[in-house]
Amino acid sequence: MAEVVIVESAETAGEVAADEIEKLVRANPRAVLGLATGSTPLTTWRALAARGLDLSQVRGFALDEYVGLPAGHPESYRSVITREVVEPLGLTPSLVRVPADDGPIETAGADYEAAITAAGGVDLQILGIGRTGHIGFNEPGSSFASLTRVKTLTEQTRLDNARFFDSLDDVPKHCITQGLGTIMRARHLVLLAFGSGKASALARAVEGPVTASLPGSAIQLHQRVTVIVDEEAAADLEFADYYRYAWANRLDWEKL
Ligand code: PGA
Repeated sequence: MAEVVIVESAETAGEVAADEIEKLVRANPRAVLGLATGSTPLTTWRALAARGLDLSQVRGFALDEYVGLPAGHPESYRSVITREVVEPLGLTPSLVRVPADDGPIETAGADYEAAITAAGGVDLQILGIGRTGHIGFNEPGSSFASLTRVKTLTEQTRLDNARFFDSLDDVPKHCITQGLGTIMRARHLVLLAFGSGKASALARAVEGPVTASLPGSAIQLHQRVTVIVDEEAAADLEFADYYRYAWANRLDWEKL
């Protein structure tokens, strides 16, 4: 089962996630990080940047990218990753990949899978969760075996992401995303969620039936998952008291 860490704020969650990344990078300066965009990971990137670690050898793979935005669009995930992750953390731009950033879209999925494999696989994947239960842009119905491919966004996701664009019409209808099968191969999943809008999807992902109808529930089949949430996002968790008890009583070797 996932380790669920319930904290008082997104800032504290960012520190806990940054602890996990710091442990990894201190053990292996060439670690492979799975990078996420959206609002959720921002406190993690900020916490990590403040630690001043040398991350110049870290390799990075973004979860997903819009399809159809002009190159260099400020809301393309290539631009977002550059602005919010690569620059503040001091990553080396050539070591950070985003799906379909190199070559035709038709073969981009297979190319991306090959690049992840060639890097030795993702060591730690940062994840948010959408209100639809998506992880990456794997919307409800996505196969648990799916690999990186082009998908159609749900209207709910387009509405949720419209805040980053001038109007809803500007939000792309398509994306290319790591599949659930790709995500499940990462050696450690760190899923973050904040706010009451995520409570239902989060509880279904962590405790609900494992079903492609709630893609985030795939994490229940993974051996190493850390879920870090604030109180609002934890509101629908049935076993919240147990998670708090387990975290408060974790063994010394489980701590940083
Ligand atoms: P958010 O998006 O971090 O902007 O809430 C998360 C997601 O859609 O996966």
